[in-house]
Amino acid sequence: MAKSRVQFICQNCGSVHQRWAGKCDACGEWNTLVEEGTAGGIGSGPANTRNARKGRAVVLTSLAGDIEDAPRIVSGIGELDRATGGGFVRGSALLVGGDPGIGKSTLLTQAAAALASKGHRIVYVSGEEAVAQIRLRAQRLGVASTPVELAAETNVEDILATLADGRRPDLVILDSIQTLWTDLADSAPGTVTQVRAAAQAMIRYAKSTGAAIVLVGHVTKEGQIAGPRVVEHMVDGVLYFEGEGNHHFRILRTVKNRFGPTDEIGVFEMSDKGLREVSNPSELFLGERHAKSPGAAVFAGMEGTRPVLVEIQALVAPSSLGTPRRAVVGWDGARLSMVLAVLEAHCGVRFGQHDVYLNVAGGYRISEPAADLAVAAALVSSLTGLALPADCVYFGEISLSGAVRPVAHAQQRLKEAEKLGFGSAVLPLGSEEVAGGIGAGAFQPTELADLVARIAG
Ligand code: TYD
Ligand code: MG
Repeated sequence: MAKSRVQFICQNCGSVHQRWAGKCDACGEWNTLVEEGTAGGIGSGPANTRNARKGRAVVLTSLAGDIEDAPRIVSGIGELDRATGGGFVRGSALLVGGDPGIGKSTLLTQAAAALASKGHRIVYVSGEEAVAQIRLRAQRLGVASTPVELAAETNVEDILATLADGRRPDLVILDSIQTLWTDLADSAPGTVTQVRAAAQAMIRYAKSTGAAIVLVGHVTKEGQIAGPRVVEHMVDGVLYFEGEGNHHFRILRTVKNRFGPTDEIGVFEMSDKGLREVSNPSELFLGERHAKSPGAAVFAGMEGTRPVLVEIQALVAPSSLGTPRRAVVGWDGARLSMVLAVLEAHCGVRFGQHDVYLNVAGGYRISEPAADLAVAAALVSSLTGLALPADCVYFGEISLSGAVRPVAHAQQRLKEAEKLGFGSAVLPLGSEEVAGGIGAGAFQPTELADLVARIAG
């Protein structure tokens, strides 16, 4: 039997230290090392005490025809099914992360209700709320009459015993992973050791019974799932539920998916009756647009397979500071610096004496380099005080040499813009065939300087 020993585990990144320290060497966080015993914990089990069992490897091709596709449980909530890649996969584990209060429990209650009313056995295990509280929420969501099974438990062994009772569940929701604890590990609930051991036990349950499980995890304010982050590699899929405090919409973003694409998002709006699907996000993000103000440019972006139009707002104002301010919300700060540098170096536009603020409307976050061109247009428009045409969309990547580079899905972006009433576009030359529609009359610069000349007249 392995010796019972004390070790210190970073609650932020999960790295193991033999000695306590104020700062974790691995991730650089302060005050995150917590003493956790290893006795009976994972990885400390008795070695060589069991006879090895001979396994059998199967030839991949002999499996052909056996499995068509991952068997899925479709919730019918379109935006959720889109993010999971077509529904929950049987026998798999999904981690849903997000800030406390963002709406994870609400979303999963709605999903549970939708599935239960289709005849699936759904068990909702809550370690945070009493059954009465969950019921209250369900009532508010108008789903209190669906046959979802509720359990307020936190011990993994108890949960497994509860689940073994009756028909095999199709989906088990564990809200949240931070409240779970197993007898196998002797640390406090919420510590890395417990989270990992509890998740492992539940994942094993999923694989052996074919039930889909959803682990809910809270994210810390730094944007990382403390604790639950260590289970990211163990689960089959990771979804993050995001949103801005002052906005009602929420985005369910796929970060990892062993059974589907990882660049999909589901868009929801939080109302007093729960989450409402938003099947056309562009309308939402462009909703509060005031036409014809300098510094605003509409970017035709893509989220996975879906085009999303969003307004980019720039404010360029004379600075009184020695080092002018650069502030970005919803985009990458380094990317902004790059676009500013290219504008200065290749287009003769000077920002050295100006503060630059960039904001993506509606609290939306862009990760695509294709936004470069829209950002550059917004910056030049704000600096010159000349408004851009209100019915124009922009997309294209800018290289350090000042060239405008083609991006994928040009046709789809243009189609979406057309659908929403836009009449013109600025996109890179050399994009895939964009004939017809607004693509026909589009302005297609090869150099950023051409666009700047056009805006500045
Ligand atoms: P919740 O799902 O409990 O968040 P999480 O599980 O991620 O911590 O959501 C809580 C927030 O959502 C709370 O601030 C109230 C709000 N809310 C609504 O606005 N409408 C609703 O119908 C519900 C159920 C919650
Ligand atoms: Mg909750």
